[in-house]
Amino acid sequence: MQVKEIDCAWHLKYEVGLEEIDAQHQYLFGLIGELHSHADASVTDKTARDLLREIDRYCYYHFNSEEVLMEIYRYPALEQQKHEHFKLLQVLDKRICDFRQQGTTVRPISEFLHKWFLSHVLSEDCQMAKFIIEIRAARSGIPKATRFQSNQR
Ligand SMILES: [Fe+2]
Repeated sequence: MQVKEIDCAWHLKYEVGLEEIDAQHQYLFGLIGELHSHADASVTDKTARDLLREIDRYCYYHFNSEEVLMEIYRYPALEQQKHEHFKLLQVLDKRICDFRQQGTTVRPISEFLHKWFLSHVLSEDCQMAKFIIEIRAARSGIPKATRFQSNQR
């Protein structure tokens, strides 16, 4: 079966402007792209199983990193972000379960993750980053006009 074309290359426009979060996003997006290159794989494919395990593990790690950061900066939409993260993990776990037990391929998972990742990063994570960048800049005394604005490259 032909693998549906989705753009798995990392682009600068995906950067939110927080170095630590951008590095995590880039790694996670790379994993999703690698997973999608095995879109037609089933549970017998060890590489696909290993990639799914790593993605699942890394999502927990990454979401926790973001939530700690949001708590530190008292981000007002923290609970909403936590809820979005929780929902994603629930769907991901269900789809991985289907992959393992129902004989589905990787494709529904990789396409779902790709879509979710881009929409979440470009909206919720950008807003969070903008908020934190503003606070950091205000604390460091950098004039407003020269501050990095997320998503304005
Ligand atoms: Fe994120």
